Amino acid sequence: MKKEILKLLKDSREVFVSGENISENFGVSRTTIWKCINQLKEEGYDIESISKRGYRLLSCPDVLTYEEIEDKLVTDRLGRTIIHFDSLESTNITAKELALDAAHGTVVISEEQTNGKGRLGRNFVSPKGKGVWMSIIMKPCIDPMKVSLLTQIAAAAVNMALSDINIESLIKWPNDIIINNKKVCGILTEMSCELTMVNFVVLGIGINVNVDASDFGEDISKIATSLKLEVGMEIDRKKLVARILNNLENLYDDYIEREDIKKSISICREKSILIGKEIRVIRKGIEINARALELKEDGSLVVEYEDGKHEALISGEVSIRGKKSYV
Ligand code: BTN
Repeated sequence: MKKEILKLLKDSREVFVSGENISENFGVSRTTIWKCINQLKEEGYDIESISKRGYRLLSCPDVLTYEEIEDKLVTDRLGRTIIHFDSLESTNITAKELALDAAHGTVVISEEQTNGKGRLGRNFVSPKGKGVWMSIIMKPCIDPMKVSLLTQIAAAAVNMALSDINIESLIKWPNDIIINNKKVCGILTEMSCELTMVNFVVLGIGINVNVDASDFGEDISKIATSLKLEVGMEIDRKKLVARILNNLENLYDDYIEREDIKKSISICREKSILIGKEIRVIRKGIEINARALELKEDGSLVVEYEDGKHEALISGEVSIRGKKSYV
C-alpha cells in the first residue's frame, strides 16, 4: 500500500491529495494511510500533512530504490526489479546468492558496501549514499568464453551515460572508467557456468559519484577520483543509474540477441586511454613494458612487447599501468 500511496503523491506533483481521496482510491482506512505516510516520512520523504487538505509530497530522499528510478527507466528487463539495501558487505556477493532464483536484469543495489570487492582481490571503497554500488544479474545464452565481453559492454554503457550528462571520461581496458587520469568507476564481472553454458553473470559496477577526497584517504586519492570532485558539484545518482541501465540494455541486446558487438567495441576503442600508449603489463607480479596496439572484436587487447612480439591479452589475467603513473 505504501508504494501505491507514494505513486499517487508523486503523480499529484505538489498538489494536496486528501485522505478521503486516498481512502476511496485504494479502499483502505485512514489509519492505514496515516501509518504508510509515517513510514514514508521515516524513509526520508518530506510530506506535508494539513488537516482538511490532506497530504502533499515536497521532496524525495536521495536513495536508489526502484520507486525513485522507475520514472527514468526505458528498459524492458534491466532494472525492472531493484533489490535495495541500506548496507551490504558487497552487492556482488548478495547478487550471486540471489542469482539462481532471480530474473534476468534484476539489480542489487546498496547505499554502502562494508567490503566492496575489486578485481584481483582488491578492496573497493564504497561510502554511504555517495556512489552507485550495484550488481546486475544477467542470464545470457552464450558460451562462457564470450562473457568477458560483457565488461566492455558495461564500460561502454557507463561512458555513454556520463557523456549524456556532459561528463567526458575514458575507458582503461578492461574495466575502469577514468577522468583526468584517475579512476572514477570499476567493473567486476563474475559468473557461474558449466562447460558450455552460463548459469548467470553478475556485473558489478561501482561509481564514485559524490565521494569526497577524505573518503578515499591519502593513498587512494592519488589514483581515484569522483564525479563530484571532477565537476565541482553533486551529481544526481538516480538519473545516472537509469541512464546506465538504459544504455546497457541496448548494448547487451545488440550483443546477445543480434550478435552485434560493434557499437560497444567502437566506443571502447574511441574512448580508450591505452591504445597507442606505452604501458606495463603486470602478470603474477612481473612487469613487462609494452605498447597497446588495438582492441579486437573479441574484447582482447593486442600489445607489442619490446622484442617485437605481439600478444592478445584476455581480460582478467593481467593488470595494466601507464609507464609513469596509474594510466
Ligand atoms: C575494480 O575496480 O577492480 C572493480 C570494482 C568493482 C566494484 C563494484 S561496486 C558494486 C559491485 N560490488 C562489489 O563488491 N564490487 C562491485
